[in-house]
Amino acid sequence: MEIRIFTDAAALAEAAADIFEATITEKPNAVLGLATGASPVLTYKALIERCRAGIISFKDITTFNLDEYCDLPQNDKNSYYTFMQENLFSQVDILPENIHIENGNADDFDKEAAAYDEKIAAAGYIDLQLLGIGNNGHIGFNEPADTFTEGTFRVKLTESTIRANSRYFTDSEMPRYALTMGTGSIMKAKKILLIATGAAKAEAVYNAVKGPVTPHCPASILQTHPDTVFLLDEAAAALL
Ligand code: GLP
Repeated sequence: MEIRIFTDAAALAEAAADIFEATITEKPNAVLGLATGASPVLTYKALIERCRAGIISFKDITTFNLDEYCDLPQNDKNSYYTFMQENLFSQVDILPENIHIENGNADDFDKEAAAYDEKIAAAGYIDLQLLGIGNNGHIGFNEPADTFTEGTFRVKLTESTIRANSRYFTDSEMPRYALTMGTGSIMKAKKILLIATGAAKAEAVYNAVKGPVTPHCPASILQTHPDTVFLLDEAAAALL
């Protein structure tokens, strides 16, 4: 696991964009695993700028998002579908048919989850997976639990995650369930890039990097991945 610490958020985002650029330059039809939340926003801005400047192109790129809320309309302002359209997809040259996000309104969640895993496998698995980290050490929506998860599944969100994410749901109630890639799906990615900023993430980052590998801190499994880089600001790295 490689750890890099930055004094300013813009430099961190440029470093993250450099890693994306290297992957896309080496493999223009790369498969990217994407994340939502506040953490990747500046990185997506940097990627949009590089796309506009003609440095990178998404025209042959395929993407799979980590997770999506269940029982929230796709076009709700808080859906991860909307987040991705607004923060990346509508501003780069990606083809709509190459974008994949779990359908949180599927009639049969197990079927949707299995189909999602099959699509990732058919695409040749993920070349570069971007991650944030929850205050409780979750990655995607893999919440602390007694066992690590495998493929995509429907998860009941913990109170800690509901508290952390409710701030976005100002005029509707936050969903209690989500579909998420499992830790097993995430670990199959060839390269993993985790971004964490702010003091609220310091304990989760410490547990992920220095703690035991345990499903009680899902991000700790990344210690066993052969090619993972953490990009942190000083506040998130404060306990290391
Ligand atoms: C959310 C998402 C995660 C994200 C994390 C941190 O609940 N499911 O994929 O990494 O929590 O979010 P943020 O970057 O907003 O702190």
